[in-house]
Amino acid sequence: MNNTWFGLRWLLRLAWRLDRRRFVIGMGLLLPGALATPAVALALKKLVDAVVVDAPGEAAAWGAVAAVVLLCELMLGHFAHLYYFELAEITDQRLHRELLRAANGSDWLELGDDPSFGDRVDLVRQDVQRMRAGIIGGLPMAALAAQLAVTAVVLGVLSPLLLLLPVVAVLPVVFGRRAEHLLESARERTAPVTRTIRHYRRLMVDPRSQQEIRLMGNARYLLGKQAELLATYQRTMNAAQWRSTALRLAGQLAFALGYVGSVLYVYQLARRGEATVGDVILVVTLATQIATQMAAGLDLFGDVYASASGVRRLLQLRDESRQRSGGSGATPFAVERMTDGIRFDNVSFAYAGSDRTALRDVDLYLPAGTCVALVGENGAGKSTLIKVLTGLYPPTAGRVLVDGVDLAATEVTSWRRRTATLFQDFARIDLTLQHSVGVGHLPDVDSREAVTAAMHRARATALLERIGDTGALIGSGYGDGTELSGGQWQRVGFARAVMRTEPMLLSLDEPGHSLDALAEQQVCDAYQATAREVAARVGGVTLFVTHRMSTVRLADLIVVLDGGRVVERGTHDELVAAGGRYAELFHLQSRAYTE
Ligand SMILES: Nc1ncnc2c1ncn2[C@@H]1O[C@H](COP(=O)(O)OP(=O)(O)OP(=O)(O)O)[C@@H](O)[C@H]1O
Ligand SMILES: [Mg+2]
Repeated sequence: MNNTWFGLRWLLRLAWRLDRRRFVIGMGLLLPGALATPAVALALKKLVDAVVVDAPGEAAAWGAVAAVVLLCELMLGHFAHLYYFELAEITDQRLHRELLRAANGSDWLELGDDPSFGDRVDLVRQDVQRMRAGIIGGLPMAALAAQLAVTAVVLGVLSPLLLLLPVVAVLPVVFGRRAEHLLESARERTAPVTRTIRHYRRLMVDPRSQQEIRLMGNARYLLGKQAELLATYQRTMNAAQWRSTALRLAGQLAFALGYVGSVLYVYQLARRGEATVGDVILVVTLATQIATQMAAGLDLFGDVYASASGVRRLLQLRDESRQRSGGSGATPFAVERMTDGIRFDNVSFAYAGSDRTALRDVDLYLPAGTCVALVGENGAGKSTLIKVLTGLYPPTAGRVLVDGVDLAATEVTSWRRRTATLFQDFARIDLTLQHSVGVGHLPDVDSREAVTAAMHRARATALLERIGDTGALIGSGYGDGTELSGGQWQRVGFARAVMRTEPMLLSLDEPGHSLDALAEQQVCDAYQATAREVAARVGGVTLFVTHRMSTVRLADLIVVLDGGRVVERGTHDELVAAGGRYAELFHLQSRAYTE
């Protein structure tokens, strides 16, 4: 119960802070509207009593009072609606922002790797929809409470025994709450299943997976998997539904018995002359009203209860996100020009939830102004090294130093602003070409010149000409944008990365991955040119990952990773002469080309 009151108070306080005027007017209209309900019952009692003693004038007057109060009840409720619906709308928008903030509040990416965090974000997303109903229900619930209090006083004055009626009427609420709770916990239990179902659904409608699904003919298999999960979900939810319906029914039944009992009791009082006919009418009317009030209260309570659990989850998510974001330092990254370089000092890293170490005791020096190639087999840790270096994940152990500045003590976003990265799993941002590229450097997001220059640096001018205009939509995420090939998307990603013109670290993770030979050559030239610029302007380091040895040999420094460890470092000639892992890889590839 505490949770519900806490959630309701939190929501109402938020609504109050967001728009006091609507809050006050909404409540100001709701309260008299709600009090009009028992007032109608009283006016009817007076009317009937006047009729019984044959006082037509008095009867007419009470009839008129009943009519006016009834009118107030209908009108005020309606106008109040308008205000608190708008209030709910405003609160809803704020809650969505809160959710976005909570989901992205952490400085690090590791929360995104944690599926249970994803589950909770999903649940809260659904909760936020329902919190709107919580606001819409919360205000009338307060008015309803006042209404019930007045009704109880009227009944108590008539006969204290009749106070049992509201008490019995509480039973459906208590049972209903229990029923809601049952459904809630079933929903929480099935969260991993619903996440997987959604994943299957996305998999089957995503054009990229659809081609493989068709080719391999595994649609039926995937549908079957999804159907199995749906069946599990439905079994759990159905069982919870049945139990909650039974509970609700028991509550309603208890009230029905109380209702019949109280009407018979007043009837007896009237027969003994201890109550008037009007009193019988009063009790019948009030008991009927209590029934509808309790049913309405039950519905409202359901909404409020569900949204209160949502509030709890939203706040937990926010706290967790804040706690885990701890670790990022507070000092802004202030190095303007790199003179020393980047040092990895005994760095190790393991992904959250994984017992394998992706980087182990990495000791590495990348001198300022150099162009470094990272080489290694699949899973060696190359992409991970880039992600740790760009500050997406904090190292599990050890330090990363940029010109002597420890990244752990640095405000991570200010360091990230000095990096430019084309990730291996780069984003395909379905926006206009202008924005898809421009978001790489927000100050220039709307500058056509900056985007055109970045496209030029990425050797993507031909693509720009083909699309025609930077204002054209790309991708088929929405609207009728031009769909791009894998290589073209990569060019867009590259252009986005080089929107920042003075990065201290330029990382390119397999930039040649989707490109044809000519395109790779062009990107390679582009990257060499950009690397030289970066080195000359700010002493930046360029780090690139590729499996093509023809590109690797151009680097000033080659670093070979194996199983998360640095196993070799040196220039191409040095490493070939050393006859180790690199020499082996190099000879393997050159043989493949010459044979
Ligand atoms: N988000 C993640 N969560 C858990 N483990 C991960 C995650 N990303 C990568 N790994 C694991 O970390 C190790 C290193 O992966 P990484 O992506 O750095 O390899 P890589 O050298 O870039 O390989 P590739 O050449 O295939 O791109 C692998 O064992 C991989 O399974
Ligand atoms: Mg990789």
